[in-house]
Amino acid sequence: MTIAPSQSAGSEAWSDTRLLYALEEVVETEIDRHIRAAKEWMPHEYVPWSQGRDFDGVMGGEAWAPEQSKVTEIGRISLVVNLLTEDNLPSYHHEIATLFGRDGAWGTWVHRWTAEEGRHAIVMRDYLLTTRAVDPVELERLRMHHMSEGFESDNAHSMLHSVAYVAFQELATRISHRNTGRESGDPLCERMLARIATDENLHMVFYRNLLAAALQLAPDQTMQAIRDVVVGFRMPGHGMPGFERSAARIAIGGIYNLRIHHDDVLQPVLRHLKVLETQGLGPEGLKAQEELGFFMGELDSQARKFEERRDALLARRAARV
Ligand SMILES: [Fe+2]
Ligand SMILES: [Fe+2]
Repeated sequence: MTIAPSQSAGSEAWSDTRLLYALEEVVETEIDRHIRAAKEWMPHEYVPWSQGRDFDGVMGGEAWAPEQSKVTEIGRISLVVNLLTEDNLPSYHHEIATLFGRDGAWGTWVHRWTAEEGRHAIVMRDYLLTTRAVDPVELERLRMHHMSEGFESDNAHSMLHSVAYVAFQELATRISHRNTGRESGDPLCERMLARIATDENLHMVFYRNLLAAALQLAPDQTMQAIRDVVVGFRMPGHGMPGFERSAARIAIGGIYNLRIHHDDVLQPVLRHLKVLETQGLGPEGLKAQEELGFFMGELDSQARKFEERRDALLARRAARV
């Protein structure tokens, strides 16, 4: 099978199969880079086991009560959202294994990524239960509900859309974990989430580099995929019970909001890939690039309005106190 270079691909669209084949070498290189950069770490080392004790029920210990939690209220809300998001790993694995396959370099990545992601829910749950940071019964019921619903990607129809989505989503997850740690009020929680955030950053770099290669190979199609993903971006946990309410609290609490999404997630990836400066696009690619630029401007002004509303709300709250 011969792969036509991007110049001669002309108006002929790249199929997912051709893209997977053409990008396999890049995946191999990126796996090597990832393995060299990723340091082994042990989830159990991040959990203060000495703070743990039996719960009520089978063990006849003490029931959970809110005053036992050392983390802030906003920290509790965000930790639950982030853990439930990590808990849905079987669904994410299914999505990328279906799209990328389980063979060759793509398969190696799918399995390695899944193994690394598995640590995140392990360490977070161990920390939350050991320190009694959140209600364990509520957490388990939410997990059952959320995982029973499953997760269906908005981008399963196209591998370019999926690669673009995960490049932004891994960074969004990194920022969300890091800011949750910062707002949690517990240095142990912050250290644990900072460790997870380091993993998410390496995942972002992997997908971002893959997206850079796709931009070179199929610039017009990749530009359209990036536009679609940026314009329609939703966090992977959007389907969980009470997500809208939690997301509103998380936004006001400075963990994840429009300003952070624009400045710390979308802009860094777009700038790194020079998406808005890419030259030599065809009519469809050019249209997508212009729409993307327009959307980013709109998002920035929406973010400014959000900040004004939030500042006014916080000022009213402060005045009441
Ligand atoms: Fe994760
Ligand atoms: Fe990740």
